[in-house]
Order: sequence, then C-alpha cells, then structure tokens
Amino acid sequence: MLKIYDDKSKILRERCEPVSLPLSKDDEKTLWSMLDYLKKSQDEKYAEKHHIRSGVGLAAPQIGLKKRMYVIYYTKTGKNGKEEVVSYALVNPKIVSNSAKLCALRGGEGCLSVKEDKEGYVYRYYKIVLKAFDLVQNKDITITAYGYDAIVLQHELDHLEGILYYDRINKQNPLEIKPNSELI
Ligand code: CO
Repeated sequence: MLKIYDDKSKILRERCEPVSLPLSKDDEKTLWSMLDYLKKSQDEKYAEKHHIRSGVGLAAPQIGLKKRMYVIYYTKTGKNGKEEVVSYALVNPKIVSNSAKLCALRGGEGCLSVKEDKEGYVYRYYKIVLKAFDLVQNKDITITAYGYDAIVLQHELDHLEGILYYDRINKQNPLEIKPNSELI
C-alpha cells in the first residue's frame, strides 16, 4: 500500500525533476503501483477497509517522489453514451497550448493530499493540448482535453510545480465568477 503524503509535507511544495526516458524499471513499477492505487481507491469496499479516500489522479510527489510523473484513472460516459475509461501514466507532461476560456468545477476540487475539501472555484484552462510520454500506451502522446478532463490533467500538473488546488482559490471571493469562463 502506498503512503500518501499530505499537504503539510515539504515535498508537496517542491518543484519536481524531469524523469529520464526510456523509463527505468523502478519508475515503471512506481507508475503501475500508483495506477493500481487509484483503481482500488475507487472500489468502495476496498477504500473503506483500508481507510483510504477515492481519487482520480495521483502525482509522484504525493507518494514522496520528486519526479515529473503522474497517473489518472476514471470512467466517464462518452458522446455515444458508452462508458469510457480515462487512464494515463504520464511522464514529463507539458502543456503546449491552451484556450483563453477558463472553467471550474461547480463543486470545487479535492485532492488525496488535502484532508478536508476547501470550498471555492479553481479556475483552469477550459481546453489544453498536452504532450507527454504515457506508460499505459507506452509511447509519446498528445492529449487534447476539455472541461473535466482538462481540469484533472492540470490539477496533477500543478503537483509537479508544488502547487495545490486551494492556492488557486480567490481568498477574498472564493465563489467569484470570472469572465470568459464556464462552471461545469
Ligand atoms: Co491533488
């Protein structure tokens, strides 16, 4: 079982280092175990038994590693009404373009490293294009993501810079409505 570091840990405030490619066996093993952790965290019975919270993303610093890599796992309903799995194990991710339009989750964000959810809108780019090496597909990929998908990718990317989601909440006006933005 992975140990999850909380937001009092110094490592969550540090900038992570690039990971060398091709991946070492150790880094591969770490990424697969992170992905496995996320999947299990979404199993209600498992989560309850092991006293862990459910998450859709996990970044290396959250398990104590100062490395530019993170995993994402969740299911969503696709355009055709079919269940789709979103699963990535990304290394050295980089946003190469973004929309001017912003978006935020109506219910706010959460994080496995932040014990109590903090209220407030976390504005992020509505659309991003991100490049990375993905271990799930075992190749370099370019992801074009919108809305929720883009938010999750950006939340995890922030972890690699030592940024936590509540840093982005407007302290004076947590529910501020920004121009050119959409709540989702
Ligand atoms: Co987080």
